[in-house]
Amino acid sequence: MPSILITGANRGLGLEFATQYARDGWQVVATCRRAEDLPALEALADVGDVRSFALDVADFDEIDALAGELADESLDVLLNNAGLFGPKAGADKDLRQSFGHVDYEIWRDVFRVNAMAPLKMMESFVEQVARSEQRKMVTISSTVGSIAQADGGLYAYKTSKTSANMVMRAAAADLAPRGITTLAICPGWVQTRMGGEGAVLEAPHSIAAVRKLIRDVDPANSGAFVDYTGATVPY
Ligand SMILES: NC(=O)c1ccc[n+]([C@@H]2O[C@H](COP(=O)([O-])OP(=O)(O)OC[C@H]3O[C@@H](n4cnc5c(N)ncnc54)[C@H](OP(=O)(O)O)[C@@H]3O)[C@@H](O)[C@H]2O)c1
Repeated sequence: MPSILITGANRGLGLEFATQYARDGWQVVATCRRAEDLPALEALADVGDVRSFALDVADFDEIDALAGELADESLDVLLNNAGLFGPKAGADKDLRQSFGHVDYEIWRDVFRVNAMAPLKMMESFVEQVARSEQRKMVTISSTVGSIAQADGGLYAYKTSKTSANMVMRAAAADLAPRGITTLAICPGWVQTRMGGEGAVLEAPHSIAAVRKLIRDVDPANSGAFVDYTGATVPY
């Protein structure tokens, strides 16, 4: 059966990805930032073939250590799902991503998780993906990272997702000789802790759609940025 590694799998979209892939018989490597959340993932062993590991994607030594531990394995899909939104101006009236109030330490933390960590994961796990059958690397992005569609505010989150899109696009070129396809996907506005209760989509619906896109991605479209419906999003 195919295999997938998912970051940030303890809740939200990551947990939904892990559940759906496990239910479909995939071998799932589910990772979460904090060891204390491992039980949430270990419970998925009842659903299917799920192995759980603690992995803080902001800690690049931890990424290398896990890649070393899994050195002999093959991964059909590397799924960069873990993400940080940062302060919310609307819901929490926290202006630290708003013009005139930007907290640059927060920007650095958000950027490390959303933009740098996906590339570090791809560098560290490239051999496992290259030896697999499907050879795909996917990052969960957001349409708010689209420069063409930008409005104001949300500087840390937006710029981090813009950069994540560039990472996937540039890596498409670098990884083509290894037969690896990359894709950046926006899951839509989904009901999770990040998306909030007012979000229009429920996680099972969004993730079922995103999984079809991952299944069907064509190497000719490597580096594309699409939303959960499959529509191309302008960078
Ligand atoms: N929900 C939406 O509407 C929406 C829309 C567009 C894009 N997205 C993207 O979809 C992805 C999943 O979001 P979500 O809605 O499921 O958000 P969420 O409910 O806030 O979950 C975020 C996940 O990322 C993990 N994470 C954060 N920092 C991490 C780190 N340093 N190392 C490892 N894991 C870390 C969290 O772990 P902890 O539990 O330890 O904090 C959690 O598992 C994100 O990349 C997000 O930007 C979501």
